[in-house]
Amino acid sequence: MKILVIGSGGREHAIAKKFLASNKVEAVFVAKGNVGMKKDGIQIVDISEENHAALIEFAKEQAIDWTFVGPEIPLLNGIVDDFQAAGLKIYGPTKRAALIEGSKDFAKEIMNKYNIPTANHQTFTDYEEAKAYVTEQGAPIVIKADGLAAGKGVVVAETLEQAIAALKDMLEDNKFGESGARVVVEEFLDGQEFSLLSFVDGEKVWPMVIAQDHKRAYDNDEGPNTGGMGAYAPVPQISQEMVDKAIETIVKPAARGLVREGRSFTGILYAGLIATKEGAKVIEFNARFGDPETQIVLPRLTSDFASIIDDILNGNEPIVEWKKEGYTLGVVVAADGYPAEYEKGVLLPDFSTLENSEVLFAGVAENSEGKLVTNGGRVYLLASEGTTLEEAQAKVYADLEKLDTTGTFYRSDIGSKAL
Ligand code: AMP
Ligand code: GLY
Repeated sequence: MKILVIGSGGREHAIAKKFLASNKVEAVFVAKGNVGMKKDGIQIVDISEENHAALIEFAKEQAIDWTFVGPEIPLLNGIVDDFQAAGLKIYGPTKRAALIEGSKDFAKEIMNKYNIPTANHQTFTDYEEAKAYVTEQGAPIVIKADGLAAGKGVVVAETLEQAIAALKDMLEDNKFGESGARVVVEEFLDGQEFSLLSFVDGEKVWPMVIAQDHKRAYDNDEGPNTGGMGAYAPVPQISQEMVDKAIETIVKPAARGLVREGRSFTGILYAGLIATKEGAKVIEFNARFGDPETQIVLPRLTSDFASIIDDILNGNEPIVEWKKEGYTLGVVVAADGYPAEYEKGVLLPDFSTLENSEVLFAGVAENSEGKLVTNGGRVYLLASEGTTLEEAQAKVYADLEKLDTTGTFYRSDIGSKAL
């Protein structure tokens, strides 16, 4: 098989690497990819994920068997619809189905209609009305811009003042543009977070092993929200009973609901959940793999990833099997300043000292001497496995300490919530 992957981050590095590990796969191309991927034999293609026509032309020219979409933006821009219209196979939701991620308001509508447990909420477009509601509810309370805002459109307000300031930013001062023109105000859910991802095809779902991301920039969950600073899988403090119940009461009803709404979903459905005292509740749905969850979930897949996608696209029953023993843990190394302004062009360290970890690249480029330099907020991730979570954690941090991480930072407590 020849496969094309759309995207350029650490998630896509992990996806492409896992595809390439299959003996059924001849070549994996990633558009636009990043130069760090080349060390694993992945071929990068200089076409933007926004240029659907050029991607379609490339897929035809190279006789690509099928395409896999990593990030949400091309999905919401209808890349799946465009490939299908051109007669090409592609794995990911259509634009209509991807709205489960594209609009928090639409996601809430589906959850209410199909009795999927989630935080109580109200949607507002008017600042004064929102302010009155928030004042009545009190803090802590959660304020979310309706559209995509790269993980930055969510404010978990600990005080009423913070909540009102967030409403003002979004509804009055338009700091999030169109994304913040509608705001979802949500009940604060207390409990540990976990990510439950599934391969989905219409009403059929094949769940993955659960993971826990770390969204805040600094240790002890302090600092601003980011795309994710590290993750591990599985999550021992979340019981199998809670996961099984979440599959039955959240994932399957969501897939079924989308079919009933005429928005049948084929792709990766990501349920972001909080384990509350009353069971798991949804904080968000994504229409794609998570980053950095993918980098630590895919290494736990023991069956053939490329065959799973090929089978689903051809209407066959896929074989989906996971490691039963041990843990995988990954730590993101980000540019100083991320998620706000950061510098680019800082030289990356020599990774040849790594003893136990694999490195997956994200925001990297090559300088004029062909050396890897930083080129984005999240730069790379180191991942390792252990028979215990402590062991996986110790291996990654031992490797990180050997690297020269000048100009970058990482959290030192990934996985600690489980220990
Ligand atoms: P989201 O973009 O919806 O995933 O939200 C970003 C982060 O905000 C989540 O990962 C949670 O840590 C936090 N969060 C979102 N909604 C809630 C909620 N209702 N209660 C508590 N924390 C939340
Ligand atoms: N790691 C969270 C996300 O991919 O949305």
